[in-house]
Amino acid sequence: MSDTPKTPRASQPQNRKPRRMSGGKPDGPKRDRKTAPKAEDSATRLMHRKVKTARGRKIGSKLWLERQINDPYVKKAQEMGYRSRAAFKLEELNDKFRLIRPGSLVVDLGCAPGGWVQVAMGLGAERVVGIDVLPVELIAGSELLKMDFMDDEAPAAIKALLGRAPDIVLSDLAANTTGHRQTDHLKTVALVDAAAHFAMETLKPGGHFVTKVFQGGAEKTLLDTLKENFKTVRHAKPKSSRKGSPEIYLVALGFKGYHTH
Ligand SMILES: C[S@@+](CC[C@H](N)C(=O)[O-])C[C@H]1O[C@@H](n2cnc3c(N)ncnc32)[C@H](O)[C@@H]1O
Repeated sequence: MSDTPKTPRASQPQNRKPRRMSGGKPDGPKRDRKTAPKAEDSATRLMHRKVKTARGRKIGSKLWLERQINDPYVKKAQEMGYRSRAAFKLEELNDKFRLIRPGSLVVDLGCAPGGWVQVAMGLGAERVVGIDVLPVELIAGSELLKMDFMDDEAPAAIKALLGRAPDIVLSDLAANTTGHRQTDHLKTVALVDAAAHFAMETLKPGGHFVTKVFQGGAEKTLLDTLKENFKTVRHAKPKSSRKGSPEIYLVALGFKGYHTH
């Protein structure tokens, strides 16, 4: 995943059976949260470093490495003990929309490597229940499933761990791209759609839903459904989201209660 600083992960075999990973040692950020790098951050003033093309290294991976090395958010994430630069996106969204409160029960769809889980726990969430196809190192206060969210059993597996209606459903789900535009678009739309419907089936009244979307926002039908079921629906592009990236976030606030469309 291009957003992720290279940190060691627990190596667990990938299979389709859900694996539950819970509890564990505290793994919070090392320093104060409110230090998302600004445009003027000293890291941005460092000289842009180029990566030599070693024999055998593909140009794509050379560019990825160069971008990682020169990205102030990657550096800051490493300094703060965040597992991903994506952590800053949730911090920014939370600063703007006041999403997570002390005691919140949070669902995190597509949670690996765990940056958003760290941020949510740092904001005082009671618990985070997360899911990802990739294994995630344990984070205290979270219960994380290693499972494909698109599996038919996934919603029930998450609900079984929740115990009560969640206050917030977050989705940073991003499918691996195939390079075939139409296929990638359909895969993304399916993930966003599934996340939104899961949120509307589980959220408590007044709860919030946040999802990553691409290419200018959610599909019109989904947007209409969300507008009907939430008091406010907004799009937001955090500063920490790469300018060249087509990703933006859709933030739906104040769930009214589920209505079938
Ligand atoms: C951008 S990353 C999430 C980063 C995370 N928010 C963080 O802060 O660490 C997107 C994640 O979605 C996961 N993902 C994509 N499709 C999935 C699926 N169908 N089921 C579960 N996880 C999925 C990927 O494995 C990846 O870890």
